[in-house]
Amino acid sequence: MKKFSIAVAGGGSTFTPGIVLMLLENLDKFPIRQIKFYDNDAERQEVIAKACDIIIKEKAPDINFVYTTDPETAFTDVDFVMAHIRVGKYAMREKDEKIPLRHGVLGQETCGPGGISYGMRSIGGVIELVDYMEKYSPNAWMLNYSNPAAIVAEATRRLRPNSKILNICDMPIGIEIRMAEMLGLKSRKDMVIRYFGLNHFGWWTDIRDKEGNDLMPALREKVAKIGYNVEIEGENTEASWNDTFTKARDVFAIDPTTMPNTYLKYYFFPDYVVEHSDPNHTRANEVMEGREKFVFGECRAIAEKGTAKDSKLHVDDHASYIVDLARAIAYDTKERMLLIVENDGAISNFDPTAMVEVPCIVGSNGPEKIVQGKIPQFQKGLMEQQVSVEKLVVEAWIEGSYQKLWQAITLSRTVPSASVAKAILDDLIEANKDFWPVLK
Ligand code: NAD
Ligand code: G6P
Ligand code: MN
Repeated sequence: MKKFSIAVAGGGSTFTPGIVLMLLENLDKFPIRQIKFYDNDAERQEVIAKACDIIIKEKAPDINFVYTTDPETAFTDVDFVMAHIRVGKYAMREKDEKIPLRHGVLGQETCGPGGISYGMRSIGGVIELVDYMEKYSPNAWMLNYSNPAAIVAEATRRLRPNSKILNICDMPIGIEIRMAEMLGLKSRKDMVIRYFGLNHFGWWTDIRDKEGNDLMPALREKVAKIGYNVEIEGENTEASWNDTFTKARDVFAIDPTTMPNTYLKYYFFPDYVVEHSDPNHTRANEVMEGREKFVFGECRAIAEKGTAKDSKLHVDDHASYIVDLARAIAYDTKERMLLIVENDGAISNFDPTAMVEVPCIVGSNGPEKIVQGKIPQFQKGLMEQQVSVEKLVVEAWIEGSYQKLWQAITLSRTVPSASVAKAILDDLIEANKDFWPVLK
């Protein structure tokens, strides 16, 4: 059986150890001969890499492990690039969240002006990874979950249309795990779903069991009461995420014929989100004090002790979708998965060039979209506005256009007026001068 070589781009990510543990857990399904970490921050990556080196030696000593900041070393002789970079790191995430809040607008990693700001940083970083992969391993596939995935996907569609890059998000997977729990199913894979939308902006329209029984009525009853706030065994959900899962109840009430993605809360209830935000302490602060501190602390402890035996680092079970996706390409499994792909008729009454999130059948030649047909006026109107925001951001990045970026922020449902949009934009330009192209 062929063994694969993997490059992890963003080796210094807080998610890297969980993904490595997950890969090691799945070696029977997806054999690996080599793992290479790549990051442009040597110091940050080294903390994670030294611990992962020990973990790999203890669990799978046959795997060759390399970590580097040199693109040629990282991208040569690889079959898959798993990409999760955060251009500007948490320091810039914090600014993305806090700057809009100063203007009374919500501050979020991937939604509204914060997401636009992050997008303007990510486009160049992800395109650079694609180019390295194509230069050093032209047959490789990139599995990309670097955010903001909607903007990154549109940028790769525009700038690298023929590249072998698959854009995927774990939010629908996390929600489906909750739905399965509420329905008393063993696994989310016991459900067959239909879904349409943009990334972090979508709806389930049909959920059935493998026998074809409609599970939506039972789910509606639950979601109307508790949203998606249900306890998941082995998962310690933070308070702010529990709020989001509960708020899904109010999002659901706007269209009870569908099940919403949790991220819609930012577009339907921006006033609520602003009221419930602390402008001096946002999600970036929570993550730095929580996940980052924990993961880096555990990694340093592993390196000091020289063993991972009593480490509290855990397998990221959520992330097993990455193995499902890699296996679909490697073994032509024809797995049905939600991916962010060019619409091209999958939603028949929507822009064919939009990057949409729809179920696809994934095989060795990549994804084949499953047609979702016509979508209702309500969602169509919302999606046309949001996809225009995303397209304008990419055009602004390509053309270096201040005007288009101002239009993009003005068009976001989260922003009340063009004057507020301009004030936010001017602050974001100042904060992002080391990252954004110069805008004229
Ligand atoms: P993190 O800051 O801990 O890790 C990101 C790493 O990327 C850092 O080590 C940083 O040095 C590195 N990096 C930044 N720019 C780079 C570049 N140009 N080239 C190479 N490396 C670069 O962030 P995190 O919280 O662990 O998240 C990582 C990424 O995964 C983010 O983009 C996040 O939004 C994304 N994510 C996506 C999903 C999804 O559903 N698609 C889920 C979880 C996380
Ligand atoms: C979900 C989304 C990701 C997002 C993450 C943020 O997993 O799908 O796209 O990056 O949440 O989580 P955090 O804990 O960093 O706020
Ligand atoms: Mn996501």
